[in-house]
Amino acid sequence: MEKKKGLFITFEGIDGSGKTTQLELVDKYLKEKNLKTLLTLEPGGCELGKNIRQILLHYDSYVNDTAELFLYLADRAQHTDTVILKGLKEGSIVLCDRFIDSTAAYQGYGRGFDLEKIDYLNKAATLGLVPDLTFVFDIDLETAQKRVGKTKDRMEKEKLEFHKKVKEGYLDLAKKYPDRIKVIDSTQSIEKIHFEVRKIIDKVL
Ligand code: TMP
Repeated sequence: MEKKKGLFITFEGIDGSGKTTQLELVDKYLKEKNLKTLLTLEPGGCELGKNIRQILLHYDSYVNDTAELFLYLADRAQHTDTVILKGLKEGSIVLCDRFIDSTAAYQGYGRGFDLEKIDYLNKAATLGLVPDLTFVFDIDLETAQKRVGKTKDRMEKEKLEFHKKVKEGYLDLAKKYPDRIKVIDSTQSIEKIHFEVRKIIDKVL
């Protein structure tokens, strides 16, 4: 893989954790500093991925767990190649809503796939690209469910027990990779969370 020039920051958390709001605030903050950013997401950050996202979140019949895992990975392979690596080579700060840790948290801790296997498959999909910095927005399940609201996609419809495993999975991942993954208490006000996030970003800039 060609050496990258930009900075790669990912935003993670259970559904309803407030990560997307924070990503948008970071984008605004960096733009005010005249820094070039690239905002993207998984699944669905590229043309092919938009179709995969539609299947993953809205296909209303049975989806085999392995098929689900490979659909997320297919999205990631195409997205890393056509969007993320391109942005990094151009020197952008790439802000990505979900990446490798979502697969570890949801398909690994949530669905029960072996974490080493997921690690191997993630590496295959990303050519070994790992974020420079990852935020995990941690929130209690009740508040998160309220934020998601009544209209739920296929993943959001999963049982509370599943989301609990995902939440705990994220915290476990943060313990495993403390240099890269920073856990933010997402029960605080939007402004307070943003302030905390900014402090961490300022350090890596
Ligand atoms: P979001 O864009 O609203 O965050 O929704 C994406 C959903 O897909 C969310 O429920 C998390 C889930 N997901 C996985 O299960 N595995 C993955 O690898 C990714 C990227 C997302």
